[in-house]
Amino acid sequence: MTQDELKALVGRAALDFVVPLAVVGVGTGSTVNCFIDALATVKDTITGAVSSSVQSTERLRSHGIRVLDANEVEAIPVYIDGADEIDARGHMIKGGGAALTREKIVADLAERFVCIADESKLVDRLGRYPLPVEVIPMAAAQVARRFASAYGGQAAVREGVTTDNGNWLLDVRGLAIADPLAMETEVNQWPGVVTVGIFARRRARVCLLGTSQGVKALSFD
Ligand code: A5P
Repeated sequence: MTQDELKALVGRAALDFVVPLAVVGVGTGSTVNCFIDALATVKDTITGAVSSSVQSTERLRSHGIRVLDANEVEAIPVYIDGADEIDARGHMIKGGGAALTREKIVADLAERFVCIADESKLVDRLGRYPLPVEVIPMAAAQVARRFASAYGGQAAVREGVTTDNGNWLLDVRGLAIADPLAMETEVNQWPGVVTVGIFARRRARVCLLGTSQGVKALSFD
């Protein structure tokens, strides 16, 4: 199976986690696009969606799925999103699509994070994928220096990208993330950091992994 076929497979499989009559949290990316297309087939059974990006909002609306503002909902049962990397405990690197801040906000509204990914995303240790960090533009150089001194990481501004929130993104290479929760907690404290793309505090509870043998469900509870 191709990578695109694996993404379509897990996108459809995620429908099993959509709660009838509830609002579903929707992430961003090519795997989530497959989920949104599948969601369109059951759109009359849900109240609507809270979206994590302009891109996903447009795709949801193009299918006639109602999109609610995050401020309109207090809690949602499930958030479904992809990942750039996921480890054996459900910790993830996210933000390859630049949507990490809104993704973390919607994930935080949800009781359960369901990650959908093809098997290439499963890693022993996070960090081979460059870690995205959304920063206030005037802090970019300072945050980059801090990554170098604190973790030996090399950070570079993602050229030509402004986030949906009007900020810049750093991509940090050369990290071996032994303790994702500790690094997420530490980097979150640095002035100018809006969001670090480590999802450890809000890790996945389930991962639907697309493999050549079919969908493998990993549970991290
Ligand atoms: C978006 O900002 C990211 O967090 C995506 O969820 C992640 O990059 C996975 O995207 P793909 O499904 O396109 O690989």
